[in-house]
Amino acid sequence: MQSAPGPETVIDGVRYLYFAGTSYLGLAAHPDVIEAGCEAMRHYGVHSATSRARFGTNPPVLAVEQEAAKYFGTDDAFYFSTGYVANHILVSALSVGVDAVLVDEAAHYCVIEAARLAGPAVTTFHHLDPEDLARKARGHRSLLVLADAIGPSTGVLAPVEDYLKVLKETHDARLLLDDAHGFGVLGPDGRGLFDELGLWSRVNHPVAGAGTSLYVGGTLAKALGGFGGIIPGTRGWVNQTRRASHYFDGASAPASSAAGATARALALVGQQPELRASLRRNALRLRAGLTSLGLTVPAGASAHIGVVAGDAGNMRRVHERLKERGIMVPYVDTYSGLPAEGVLRFAVFANHSSAQIDHLLSELRTIL
Ligand SMILES: Cc1ncc(COP(=O)(O)O)c(C=O)c1O
Repeated sequence: MQSAPGPETVIDGVRYLYFAGTSYLGLAAHPDVIEAGCEAMRHYGVHSATSRARFGTNPPVLAVEQEAAKYFGTDDAFYFSTGYVANHILVSALSVGVDAVLVDEAAHYCVIEAARLAGPAVTTFHHLDPEDLARKARGHRSLLVLADAIGPSTGVLAPVEDYLKVLKETHDARLLLDDAHGFGVLGPDGRGLFDELGLWSRVNHPVAGAGTSLYVGGTLAKALGGFGGIIPGTRGWVNQTRRASHYFDGASAPASSAAGATARALALVGQQPELRASLRRNALRLRAGLTSLGLTVPAGASAHIGVVAGDAGNMRRVHERLKERGIMVPYVDTYSGLPAEGVLRFAVFANHSSAQIDHLLSELRTIL
């Protein structure tokens, strides 16, 4: 890539109409975000060159935690360098005292790896399958269950309500979702899948004896236009996550430029609800268009849509034909959570115009 990601993006020297990646709210190239990142680096250097537990909590890092708490409507938030480790950190806090850990067999790499950090043996359950979860959960008094909130390549939402029905049988169940692709996209307040389901007030807010407890971690590097991982929650819970793993005292604090840009991006998303409204409109327009072409799209309003269009050879052909016409839609055949034949992965941004989406659909109509 030789430009910032956006509706038009340069790849291998060619400018494409771009429906790929994860810059869903279209902020990666926003001038205010870039300027805030530059300003933070000028002022505080590349990074603080020490861990958060020493002197690493510089003003831009602190600003991300404050802006994230405001955005997520929580007391506090823990900010770290990459969303990939969000689950690693959360599992360190959540696996204490559980007698089994269950993970969706096709969850993102970082979810599976994090599950393996937990003490007890890890068992997989069939992808998105509450009945298999019920079978594997039977007989356990305390459980930690991990899954993606949204399939990163498919856009399929986890059947959370069905999981919760199953987990009612367990004395102490903890459900942890990775919502890397839902933060900034789903829910009336843009807080992700739990927000979409009206469950946000219970999330990262452990209350003893209140039924299945809900946890989430994610990234600010996708829709929310910044960079780094985030765990929002009550002050007590967030502090527990800071202490539970050694990330807070054993890793360099996030880079100043990343933190400065991220704090500004979060503030913009809060101040400009029209960004999320536009993303949702575009996600629904693309879904409706793909459906009208006879393709099956996942339910919901995720900003990325994995579509199976014939076999792998056909999807490679569709990808190549679109590319020849200046449109980039990747064919993804290697990633976690894919069907055997792979998918054409469409991503839409808040700053795609309706005309750009319609152009994609009309080209696709002639190629399929
Ligand atoms: C589901 C999921 N979780 C976590 C990550 C990692 O987040 P980050 O890019 O912030 O490390 C990704 C992809 O990048 C992802 O798709």
